[in-house]
Order: sequence, then structure tokens, then C-alpha cells
Amino acid sequence: MFTLHTTCRACGLGNQIPTLKQTASGGPALNHDSLRSVVDLGIQPLANDFCAAAQPRAGYAPLRVLYCPRCTLAQLSVVVDPAVLYRHYSYVTSPSRTMLEHFAKLASDIKAETDGRYLLEIGSNDGALLLAFGKVGFEECIGVDPAANLCELARKNGCTVVNQFFTQQVAREISASYRPDVILARHVFCHIDNWKDFVAGLQELIGPDTLVCLEVPYAGDLLRRGEFDTIYHEHLSFLTITSIEHLLRDSGLHLHRIIEYPIHGGAVLLMLRSDQHGKPASPSVGDYLIHERTTMNEDAWIRLGINARNNIDVLRAYVRNLRDNGKRVAGLGASAKSTVWINACSFTRKEIDYIADTTTLKQYKTSPGSDIPIVDEGAIVRDLPDYVICFAWNFKEEILQKFEGIRKQGVKFVFPSPTIEVV
Ligand code: TMP
Repeated sequence: MFTLHTTCRACGLGNQIPTLKQTASGGPALNHDSLRSVVDLGIQPLANDFCAAAQPRAGYAPLRVLYCPRCTLAQLSVVVDPAVLYRHYSYVTSPSRTMLEHFAKLASDIKAETDGRYLLEIGSNDGALLLAFGKVGFEECIGVDPAANLCELARKNGCTVVNQFFTQQVAREISASYRPDVILARHVFCHIDNWKDFVAGLQELIGPDTLVCLEVPYAGDLLRRGEFDTIYHEHLSFLTITSIEHLLRDSGLHLHRIIEYPIHGGAVLLMLRSDQHGKPASPSVGDYLIHERTTMNEDAWIRLGINARNNIDVLRAYVRNLRDNGKRVAGLGASAKSTVWINACSFTRKEIDYIADTTTLKQYKTSPGSDIPIVDEGAIVRDLPDYVICFAWNFKEEILQKFEGIRKQGVKFVFPSPTIEVV
């Protein structure tokens, strides 16, 4: 189900087996040209492997982060077969107000950067973002996505989509009949193992004025806010601007501009341009590179791992204490992050009765690695548990507003990240 990953996918550093080298004094020493192990979350199930009772589980894999001392990229120590992860996918882009507002902002920011009219979205999910670009005046928007179930959903939503993983070969086939002005990939790039092939795919499609937009979670936000629960098998890389600079060297593409967004706990939109495009890069790129010189290092990752262990211990003890005192505890948001917490804390139905979630694809299945059932979101309102653990903490304001009524009736909402907060 998974292969070991030992070489930095941005700059190429790393050997499978560390080699010995001669030191200046003549004695042997370990070569330091290997990735460093910095965070270990043990063996975990696949975060979106929501299964009904009789369905076979995909399995477990190590969840460990390696750091590249040369280009600052952090990456998982394994790569789970993408066909297992993505051919049938239960993560449907959230139809939440927060997300729809983000889509509208993203579309208008990109529209302001280009007068292009043709868009290709890589990882188009259920088509919601394609529709948002249609609304700001793009004439044609086409999606590519590997999940057959989500392509079907997108087509039902009126979108044109190609049911494929994005590869150089697929890009070549698309380019025969379609030349996008904008290529957009939202929260896809860090899920991809072979970045060289991805960049080669972009090269098949771009001309001098094509705008390439990659929205990715930013490793700086993850480290600063201690968002260890965004480490799961789908997120192969934790991207820094320094590492993307390394990757793009000699590719004919460069970083043109960076825009920050609060979505998913902190993301950046990387705007890439062809080297043939005349305009100078925005100062935002240089600002990030300077900032990362002092903030992005191995120690920051090691500290994240230590804090993660503390936070896991705190939530486990907190929930067990509630149960010991006869309180009823439910979860909200069967996000991939919930799987990380539940397995790290070893929660079962003994601790959490159920997790409520709006996604129908997840409902009436169990949380991966646990027997906790996923139910519809209304269950919380019907059932009125004493405490709700909010695993979708990235939608905090929206959740607090939505459940204001039952909060007034005494239901407490617990946000586990960045540190436990009871509202
Ligand atoms: P995400 O953080 O990976 O986007 O996942 C959030 C999950 O939480 C997703 O499965 C949808 C769910 N959710 C609810 O059930 N109710 C809500 O109000 C919100 C905002 C999200």
C-alpha cells in the first residue's frame, strides 16, 4: 500500500542508506546528506478511509515527517499508493459559508491578476470552485480529478471534467484541444509525489502569459500554530517558499507573487509565471524567503512534535475525565484532522459517542481506526450532548454561530487546536 520516501522531492537531497565519509581528521563520520526524522505520530490509518461495517479497510502506514536541511521542505517518510487514496474519495469540498466566501475571494484575486478566460483546475473535486470561476467571468472552466465518484458529482453540477490523475501525459492530451490561460490547483500540489512530472505537465500547457496558481497549506503556519493534525498520509509535503524556489530552478517557471489566506488554518496562493513573461516578480516572494531564513529549520519541526505529544495527552485526559464524570461527549467534523486526533488519543466509542458531519459520503460509516460512528450533523441538535469536540476547528467562527442555539442551552464546544479551548 505504501513505499518508503527517502529523497527530497524539491531539491533531490537524500540517500536511502546514510553513507560514511572521511572527516578532516581522517576518521569516519555519517554523511549528512540525508533527510532528518523530526516528527513521529506512529502508525495510523488513512485519514479519509471512512468505511461501513462490512467494507474492507485500506490499512495502516507510518506517519513520520522528514526534514530536508538543504531546501527546508518537510515530507512524509512514506508515499501511500495514490490509487488507494484518491480513486474513490470521501473528502467533498466543504459547502460551508467560510469555504464559499474563500472561493469567491480566490476567484476575484486571480481575475485581478489576469484577463484570461480559459481555466483548467487540477483536483476539481465536486466542481464547486469551477462554478465560482464561471461566476467571475471565465468563459470555459475544465477540471481534472482522479476520483470517479467526485467527477460524477461535478458533472451533475454542470461541469466539464476529465477523470484522471494530472500527469505530463494527461496534460499533453488536454493541450491538444485546450489551452488554459489559468491553471489552478487547490490543495493538490502537496498531495503529489512526483513534482518533476507535475511541473512537466504544466510545461505542456503553458504559454508566456499563462498564470499558474497553486494554493497550498503553508508550513510556516503549521509550525507557528502547532497544527500537527494536518499531518496525514495525503499531505506528502509541508511546503516552504525556499523549497519551491529549489524545485523551480531550471524549470522555465518562477514564483511571481504570493497571497496569504486564513483558510484551512493558513494557506498561501503561489502564483507562478513563465520566465518568458515580462513582468517583474512581486516583493512578496523575497519577503517570504528572507523570513524563512530564520524561522524554517529542523528545531522548529522537533518542537512541533514535542508540543503535539503534549496536546494529545491533554485532550485524552480531558475527554476521559469528562466521561469519568458521566458527561456525554460527541465530536463535530469528521475531518481528516479528526482521524489524526482520534488515533493519536486512542479514542473509541467509550470516549466519544459519535461524530456529526454534513458530508453524506461519510455518514453511517466509522471513523478510520476506531469504532466511532459518523452521523448527520443534526444529531447534535437532537441529542444535546454535554460536550462537543470540534475537529473542524478551522471553521470555528462559523460553527459557533451555527450552534448558538444549543450553546445557550448549555452544550459546550471544545476546540482542541492550537491549545484546548472550551466555549
Ligand atoms: P476540513 O477541515 O478538512 O475541510 O473538514 C471539515 C469537515 O467538517 C468536513 O467533513 C465537513 C465538516 N463540517 C461539518 O460537519 N459542519 C460544519 O459546520 C463545518 C464547517 C464542517
